[in-house]
Amino acid sequence: MKDELYQSIEWRDGGLYIIDQTQLPAEELIIQLETAEQVWEAIRQLKVRGAPAIGITGAYGLYLGIRDFEEGSYESFIQESRRLADYLNSSRPTAVNLSWALNHILEKISGQDGSTSLSNLKKLILHTAIAIHDEDRQLCKQIGENGRELVPDGANILTHCNTGGLATGQYGTAFSVIFHAHLQGKVEQVWVDETRPLLQGARLTTWEFQKASVPHSLIVDSAAGFLMSRGKVDMIVTGADRIAKNGDTANKIGTYTLSVLAKEHGIPFYIAAPYSTLDMNIDNGSQIEIELRDEEEVLAFNHQPSTPSGTKAYNPAFDITPHQNISAIITEKGIIYPEFEKNIRERFSVAEV
Ligand code: MRU
Repeated sequence: MKDELYQSIEWRDGGLYIIDQTQLPAEELIIQLETAEQVWEAIRQLKVRGAPAIGITGAYGLYLGIRDFEEGSYESFIQESRRLADYLNSSRPTAVNLSWALNHILEKISGQDGSTSLSNLKKLILHTAIAIHDEDRQLCKQIGENGRELVPDGANILTHCNTGGLATGQYGTAFSVIFHAHLQGKVEQVWVDETRPLLQGARLTTWEFQKASVPHSLIVDSAAGFLMSRGKVDMIVTGADRIAKNGDTANKIGTYTLSVLAKEHGIPFYIAAPYSTLDMNIDNGSQIEIELRDEEEVLAFNHQPSTPSGTKAYNPAFDITPHQNISAIITEKGIIYPEFEKNIRERFSVAEV
């Protein structure tokens, strides 16, 4: 059984390469991103997607945007880096990992001596981006190793959206928990929600489970409640795009619905995420900006129009799962149970979050 998983972002020979996720599963197309503008577009168009993955890509994007900056002082370099970080951060609003990664780099360079050369500042940005990327791989592996103890033998697990190596540096979040439980022979079946409208479950999660030889079946999103009512789901685990101080969690649209159904049926509902997804600057989920995407994504099915022309649509990309509906949050530092605010603080030092 393979215990290494797919990596969708690569920094090699001075260049940033990603798999274009909009083309999967039909084509495994690797593209190079050469400018900050291309990184912005790739994130916006979901060529690269998933909270940790957009943080990693955004970090490399900052380096790509600043690497040709030649003229100017330390102050103007910092100013230009801030401008680029704001620009990259404007590509998608909900996942905090993007602003976390960009701010992390800004803090590093702002802490330097004003006489540091531009070339050393650029090196520092690149090294920080590579470190964020490397760290995410390790955190995701650890999340899987920590979370697998929650998986009972012969488990039927339901998951939503895509949370694997495509969405992270490697291993994934919820995906990593399932994968590591699978390595122990505990997984009977994974129910993969197709995840309308962009089909991250149908197109991407099935592709990753297939590569990792994890037994799975695709279901339409609206079948989840029926499966739960028939006792076919032992646990639910999803990823997260932003977790507020009190544990309220933003994740792909439909996650909230699953959490309510899980509560009704007495099924444990877990969130898996690294510390870069925690936002300790906000008290609760009402403060999380929810990305509204183009109505065309809903008016078509897999790019084929599925409605009479002139139909209107409303397309929020994420929803908020209240902390009361979450049984535990699985992190690299262990499994965190309610009361989340107190227990997150205790597990992570203030400096980390
Ligand atoms: O719009 P997407 O595809 O970027 O949404 C991704 C999700 O909602 C994932 O569940 C989340 O980012 C966690 S990924 C490890």
